Amino acid sequence: MKFDVLGLLAACSYALDCVEAELIKVTNNHSKRVAYMAVCTAEKMGIQGQSLQDLAECALLHDNAVAQYIQEELQNDALRNGVTKLGRHCTIGEKNLKNIPFHNDVFNVILYHHENADGSGPFGKQWNEVPLFARIIHMCDTIDIFCRSMKSDSDEWKRTEEFVIKSKDKLFDSFCVEAFLMLFR
Ligand SMILES: [Fe+2]
Ligand SMILES: [Fe+2]
Repeated sequence: MKFDVLGLLAACSYALDCVEAELIKVTNNHSKRVAYMAVCTAEKMGIQGQSLQDLAECALLHDNAVAQYIQEELQNDALRNGVTKLGRHCTIGEKNLKNIPFHNDVFNVILYHHENADGSGPFGKQWNEVPLFARIIHMCDTIDIFCRSMKSDSDEWKRTEEFVIKSKDKLFDSFCVEAFLMLFR
């Protein structure tokens, strides 16, 4: 029997987006857009084959632990071991995905999906300490949240492009930014 892992995860991701739309006001299909942008960016960087499926799965489920984290916070147990609140959903989310049958190693992709290139993220990791997939997802996630208005005219793109360029070496590393800007003109 064949099992469509990506299809199943896309359905889970849609369900998670619906919950997160209620909880943290993400826009509809946020994770699918992040996955689409992430896979296109990775392809531009020369990544091919099954690795792209792994990336798509991670991107679809990047915020899989948001609801769990909020539940935990409601129980007044949010800060543990000095990990910031933002990092908590990354820690839980990384653990949740450890039994997903990825094709290759994708350790620490969910764990570090909020790390900034300059080390100002929740775990203080600089871009070169963070797996490439986590850096790509972080950039695409942040861009999708920035574009919340859902308008797609040239003014909106100009604003987004300026944000991406301004964020180079601060939020996002230059390799990711350059690939993204070459792709989405
Ligand atoms: Fe997140
Ligand atoms: Fe997100």
